[in-house]
Amino acid sequence: MSEAAEAEKQAGRRRTFAIISHPDAGKTTLTEKFLLYAGAVEQAGAVKARAGRQRARSDWMEMEQQRGISISSTVLQFAYRDHTINLLDTPGHRDFSEDTYRVLAAADAAVMVLDVAKGIEPQTLKLFEVCRSRNLPVLTFLNKCDRPGKDPLALLDEIEQQIGLAPAPITWPVGEPGDFHGLLDRRRGTMVRFERTAHGAARGVDETLEPVEAARLFGPAWERAVDDVALLDEVGASYDRKAFLAGESSPLFVGSALTNFGVRHLLDAVVDLAPPPSPSLDAEGVPRPLEQPFSGFVFKIQANMNPAHRDHVAFVRVCSGHFERGMVLTHGPTGKPFSTKYAASVFGSERNTIDDAWPGDVIGLVNASGLRICDSLYAAGPVTFPSIPAFAPELTASASPKDLSRFKQFRRGVEQMEQEGVVQVLRRPGDPTTILAAVGQMQFEVFAHRLEREFGAAVDLSVPQERTVRRTDGETAGHLRGVGGVDVLERTDGTLLAVFNSPYWLDRVEADHPDWTLEAIVTT
Ligand code: G4P
Repeated sequence: MSEAAEAEKQAGRRRTFAIISHPDAGKTTLTEKFLLYAGAVEQAGAVKARAGRQRARSDWMEMEQQRGISISSTVLQFAYRDHTINLLDTPGHRDFSEDTYRVLAAADAAVMVLDVAKGIEPQTLKLFEVCRSRNLPVLTFLNKCDRPGKDPLALLDEIEQQIGLAPAPITWPVGEPGDFHGLLDRRRGTMVRFERTAHGAARGVDETLEPVEAARLFGPAWERAVDDVALLDEVGASYDRKAFLAGESSPLFVGSALTNFGVRHLLDAVVDLAPPPSPSLDAEGVPRPLEQPFSGFVFKIQANMNPAHRDHVAFVRVCSGHFERGMVLTHGPTGKPFSTKYAASVFGSERNTIDDAWPGDVIGLVNASGLRICDSLYAAGPVTFPSIPAFAPELTASASPKDLSRFKQFRRGVEQMEQEGVVQVLRRPGDPTTILAAVGQMQFEVFAHRLEREFGAAVDLSVPQERTVRRTDGETAGHLRGVGGVDVLERTDGTLLAVFNSPYWLDRVEADHPDWTLEAIVTT
């Protein structure tokens, strides 16, 4: 088979997705159960155990451990039903949503996990907005059905009302949340009864019951599920591939990650329903066919994940062609050759050498210190991929080294943190003060922590101020310089940002000068 045909075939076998959820909805548990059902781990608990080891070995992740949050993102690759699944992990905490935006730029679909007792929560909503802005198809999982929760029909309404996504249940609970017997598979009309395993640590065996048998065993609970489904049919809440791929409707699954209920159905849906990689659009909006020679873009940079080797990893999403370790690529922005001798799959601080990869896969390039977020790499024919949209920063703080004799280390650290996207770095023209901008307070804390630990430069940070930031251009910046309540700052990449003291000042300027350039989306 030619390499081009092989690239198409391999891409067809890839599913690259991210899980989005509010903290505590069950993302980690579900990830673990996916690995369990794929046979990648024999016992659930392995992911947490691995994560624990990773934390123990990594000092800058001390913060994660202290606060019980996930700051770093990792990529898991596993095989399932003759497919290769790439699960891109996203940090759960809202303060790191900038990181999540970038990860979602590398995904072809998302699984939205909702806690059945809580429904749509603030962080789910925010992350969903990012999916919507990218027209990313979203599968929904109603988790924790083993516990008392909201009425599932009411939850469907909530999803539709709050995020404007039409849910299309594929499975439906038999029994009330808290007294869950199994699920009704809407495609087959049968009931799937689950076997409980001790602590959900091992895969359960699904038992399929024909409707007559389900009615005999579960009487009213089965009848109620059948009635609910009839109602869903009536209101047209049924799976429609076109609407799903357009990001208008979401196939919905019910279950409980903890007890393994419904996990297999969801994983099967990732293979059967989620789309394989499709040709990526370049910066001009032209699709780059999958069978073209290798191309990819950097969507995340992370340094010093393992203090033992203090390295720097650039995560690259493969967009086209075949990647083979050792191939010499071209670095888009500089046109310089780029060696890929150190390509690895990365799970926290664990590395496995990657010898080859296909569209949809993610490669970690170790010690690729010249790479920045959005940079393209290609084997032939230049290509530039579009910049990754991000929401405007919401906080600013100024930073300076505590000890001026450490200024050089401070500057190096600031440059590194900016390259990784930990914070944005702004300056007022003619003023050397370093102003940091971020979406969440904790980004500043990570910045200060790492500068001290990794660069030996303790930082003085001013109290972060809430700001309303808009991207602007030279002409509007000129006008804004004479206006009250706003400062014009320049980001290191030359982007001009209008930093308003409060939304009030922005409203005033927008009302008086509707023609000025003030954009809420700031690209990286
Ligand atoms: P996150 O990554 O989205 O933050 O959530 P995570 O999987 O860590 O789950 C948060 C809590 O919810 C955990 O309990 C987990 O065991 C529980 N959980 C996840 N899925 C289910 C489910 O289907 N049913 C029930 N009843 N609980 C579920 P924890 O007590 O905070 O942690 P742990 O001691 O169990 O690890």
